[in-house]
Amino acid sequence: MNTQLFGKDFITTEDWSNSELDAALKLADDLKRRFAMGELHDHILRAKTLYMLFFEESTRTRNSFETGMTQLGGHAVYLTPSATQIGHGENAKDTGLVLGSYGQGIAVRDCRTGIGQKYQYDIAKHANVPVFSMQDDVDHPCQAMADLMTIRENYGQNLRGRKFVISWTYAPKYVRPLSVPQSLIMLMTRWGMDVTLAHPKGFELMPHTLEAARKHADASGTKFEIVDDMDAAFEDADVCYAKSWGPIMVTEEPAAVQAMCDEHKGWICDERRMGLAKKTATYMHCMPIDRGYEATDAVIDGPQSVIYQEAENRLHIQKALMALTMGGRI
Ligand code: CP
Repeated sequence: MNTQLFGKDFITTEDWSNSELDAALKLADDLKRRFAMGELHDHILRAKTLYMLFFEESTRTRNSFETGMTQLGGHAVYLTPSATQIGHGENAKDTGLVLGSYGQGIAVRDCRTGIGQKYQYDIAKHANVPVFSMQDDVDHPCQAMADLMTIRENYGQNLRGRKFVISWTYAPKYVRPLSVPQSLIMLMTRWGMDVTLAHPKGFELMPHTLEAARKHADASGTKFEIVDDMDAAFEDADVCYAKSWGPIMVTEEPAAVQAMCDEHKGWICDERRMGLAKKTATYMHCMPIDRGYEATDAVIDGPQSVIYQEAENRLHIQKALMALTMGGRI
């Protein structure tokens, strides 16, 4: 039984070493194999409970965590602020301490800018069980780990020299948090890839996440660059991860956001742009996708797209993370 990670929070990949993250990736590969072979593994977290607290809606995250707990033999409880006393102002200490005394894990999605990640650390300070980020204002660590798992499946374990591009795209429907691009630049720079971040002026990421990416690139001998040209970014890329995020560092006022986004409607992942990347390049997106705006259907449904593989891998990596931290009998 691997006990080294028992009780460890997973709020950001920044709190885990490469070898700890590697242990999760290896276990996720094995759990994926067992799932594919129909091998039951419901002894791993039998009779254990995960509380999932969602401040925002979800398709993939909720269902992959809940299904993952079922497959590991445990149970997941879906909570929202209005379904609990959080909506009446109960604080992180009281919520975390009580839920932690009933179950073995607490997972939180809270993308409120300047609040979400702090709230999770506040819960973690008081709860005597591991706390998982299901996305916050800074990081979406489960998504980034599922994406890394997907990249390793497609390109092998040695990713040195691969060009990973995370590019902003236009999307009209709602303001998406910065957490996915931030989680990607902080993680991929640690895994041997040369990372290019592309976005128009005004769509900058949080400075401390850029600093973390630079530090990781220096430490691992990889490159981290920021460009304002989507075509230039895509040239010779191995991985083209193109998605929308809001100008949150500038404004969250809806009319101002829309006006800023509308200036860059040409930032779309289409077949011409994919043609600038390597022939073996993959197209990635965490989903949900604003089809026809963030990417064309031809790219999303085309042969280079691995978006459903990414979505599936959320299940396997989260099961691995829960098994390692919640006292799983692996
Ligand atoms: N990628 C992702 O987190 O999807 P959901 O918002 O549907 O959970």
